[in-house]
Amino acid sequence: MLDTDDEIGRVAVIGSGVMGAGVAAHCANAGCEVILLDIVCEGEEDRNSIPRKAIQDMLKADPEMLMHKSFAKRIIPGNLEDDLQKLEDCDWVIEAIVENLEIKRSVYQKISQYIGTNTIVSSNTSTLPRSSLIQGMPEEMESRFLITHFFNPPRYLPLLEVVSDSKVDGGLLSGLVDFADKRLGKRVIHCNDTPGFIGNRLGIFFIQRALSAAIEHDLTVEQADAMLGIPIGVPKTAVFGLMDLVGIDLVPHVIGSMLDHLPDDDPLHNFAGSGEEIIQRMIAEGYTGRKGKGGFYRLNKEGGKRVKEARNLKTGEYAPAERKAGFPSAKMGKQGLGQLMDYPDEGAAFVQDVLLDTLSYAASIVPEVSDDIYSIDGAMRVGYNWKRGPFEMIDSIGVENFAKRLESSGRKIPPLVNKAASMGSFYSLEDGELMRMTPDGSKSAVPRPEETISISDLKRRGSPIIRNPSASIWDMGDDILLVEYHTKMNAVDPLIIEMLKEAVRMAEEKPWKGIVIGNDSKNFSAGANLGLVLFAINLSAWNEVEEFIQSGQEAYQELKFCSVPVVGASAGLCLGGGAEVLLHCDAIQAHSESYIGLVEVGVGIIPAWGGCKEMIARTRDFDLAPGGPMGPIMKAFETIGTAQVAKSADQARSMGFLGPDDGISMNRDRLLADSKMKALEMSESYSPPEPHSFNLPGPTARIALEMAVSDLARSGKATPHDVVVTSELAKVLSGGEADLTDSLGEEEILALERESIGRLGRLENTIQRMEHMLQTGKPLRN
Ligand code: NAI
Repeated sequence: MLDTDDEIGRVAVIGSGVMGAGVAAHCANAGCEVILLDIVCEGEEDRNSIPRKAIQDMLKADPEMLMHKSFAKRIIPGNLEDDLQKLEDCDWVIEAIVENLEIKRSVYQKISQYIGTNTIVSSNTSTLPRSSLIQGMPEEMESRFLITHFFNPPRYLPLLEVVSDSKVDGGLLSGLVDFADKRLGKRVIHCNDTPGFIGNRLGIFFIQRALSAAIEHDLTVEQADAMLGIPIGVPKTAVFGLMDLVGIDLVPHVIGSMLDHLPDDDPLHNFAGSGEEIIQRMIAEGYTGRKGKGGFYRLNKEGGKRVKEARNLKTGEYAPAERKAGFPSAKMGKQGLGQLMDYPDEGAAFVQDVLLDTLSYAASIVPEVSDDIYSIDGAMRVGYNWKRGPFEMIDSIGVENFAKRLESSGRKIPPLVNKAASMGSFYSLEDGELMRMTPDGSKSAVPRPEETISISDLKRRGSPIIRNPSASIWDMGDDILLVEYHTKMNAVDPLIIEMLKEAVRMAEEKPWKGIVIGNDSKNFSAGANLGLVLFAINLSAWNEVEEFIQSGQEAYQELKFCSVPVVGASAGLCLGGGAEVLLHCDAIQAHSESYIGLVEVGVGIIPAWGGCKEMIARTRDFDLAPGGPMGPIMKAFETIGTAQVAKSADQARSMGFLGPDDGISMNRDRLLADSKMKALEMSESYSPPEPHSFNLPGPTARIALEMAVSDLARSGKATPHDVVVTSELAKVLSGGEADLTDSLGEEEILALERESIGRLGRLENTIQRMEHMLQTGKPLRN
């Protein structure tokens, strides 16, 4: 269903290539009706063959472009000859065709007579300035024309750079920004109209400088990536891996377009020629990156084994990639960028060259690209997944220290760096408020996006009400408590369980109105702390294991029946015990990128913190399966027995992890605030839920489920231990020895869960599964 309250409900995307298809899919994810237009392919009977194929490919894409396969129906293919009149009812037309100024302008000309009087038109160009694109455009259209630069892949990368102009209607612009923020979940960064805007201006410089420095320092592909990735807070694809991901064939186009539009004295010109012949040769040989037969890295599948190989920059030959290619200095990254650069090895010298040039380049393009250093840092954090943006990096090195390095290496010190040196740093804290330096050398507060709450903000302004090493309880305002886990991967341990119980205890005493469980991290929770469980099992400390299970069940039940509403703010991985806590919340507010699953069978056990109990109720109550006693149980058995993980919040809803009343937040930054709002709304007329009661079919159903698994085992699809584990699962889901005339309470199902996990935990095959998971991160098929 489309949300008719929003201004933007119907979108046209022109161009159904990599970006057009990605943007169209994401607009469909946001609930829009989309028309996807492209040129007519000569000789094809189907005049919409290009966009139609793009839609078909969306359904097969990995990572998935659509949050739910059914959303493909929201996208209608069309072409630029027969369907232009359809643009009239579109609220937004996004152009995402080839990066060619003339072709783009001719398309604008073509559509100008058809678009509606309030239609916003924007280009997804990655390098072309708005001032060039609007040449020849009717003035009336110019006042509605923007650049909206999505990053690839549009669903997953939250950065959206927007370039506007004073002539553009303010209301139109703010409507679009609001839609992009709340419905598309994007972090909108306003940029000046300069080539490559912020992200690509700096990102391309960084890549090009790194390529030239790798050649100067005579480093291998693996060495360069090992130094410029994790040690400096950049994703491990670093430079060469990133080029493979983006597509090597795009590199010369993007750099060429940047050079065409940048002034002659821009430092990119100094490095752009370096490595050109390497790239050209790779393209000629078909090594265009991951989409081709490989790039700087390739997977060699000869001899039945997959071997990762890296290209020799000098000879163009491939050899098995060195796994630990970092220099000793790489380890110093943990201590700080300064410490890394001071280390006496070639890797450190390489990092220093790249960082000094890239970071001072960043300082030299302020205020040209933006007068807000926080926007520049944000663009690199969000668009390129850097841990810190350039100014945050300079602060971490120390501005004065950075300036000295520039000077002693014979580089110029940008005026902005001198200003920051006189102030001590680019950023500072004043009364818990984060301040940034402005280009004129004064300070201004970093604006917090309205209606957002983050733990890092709470931290700046104060301390949690109570904290232990694994979790904290915060006051998130308006009488709502926030329970934050902060273990590795937010794995649940006894200290977290303790804090959940503590939150319930506090909430029962006034004045708290509700509880939110959530955090700022990538993952809500990867499940129970397996290392801890395995350690106890290996010591045969069964009492401890049983107590952990029992106290987890108690805590989750207490959350469920406590006198105030509890909202689970899910995001990223929400697995096993991490998913079970959500199932006991009164409501879930899920980030659209929530990956929820009960994956316990992968480690040889079953969900035993009430996960089986809640899934029987959900599959029954949410109409997910045909009626009758068996339908819901079979659905729950399939979901848990095959350790299915939803790949989006929408998929989680189809699987029963989310209920019809649970909410989805598209923007991760808004998740905690949306969750708090949900808790507040619920608190107005809240009473705890009635406990579930179950009439389950008992042993006959268990035998039916076991037979289904035996069939799978016979055909080799289930392993011997799968048979054992799912037999225990069948026992719990079918209600043990009960039959349909018995009415079982929640406690009885919880007891069945405890008994089953108690038996499974003692089996050698389960222990092997756990060990394997801890060592490799993958399930063992024993
Ligand atoms: P692509 O090559 O995958 O797709 C280009 C599309 O343009 C195709 O659907 C093609 O049929 C269509 N097209 C070609 N000639 C046309 C014409 N004469 N009239 C109308 N349509 C025509 O390109 P990609 O990568 O999707 O790029 C599209 C735009 O997005 C470009 O402006 C690019 O700079 C920008 N961009 C690309 C990113 C990327 O990573 N690929 C990232 C961000 C922006």
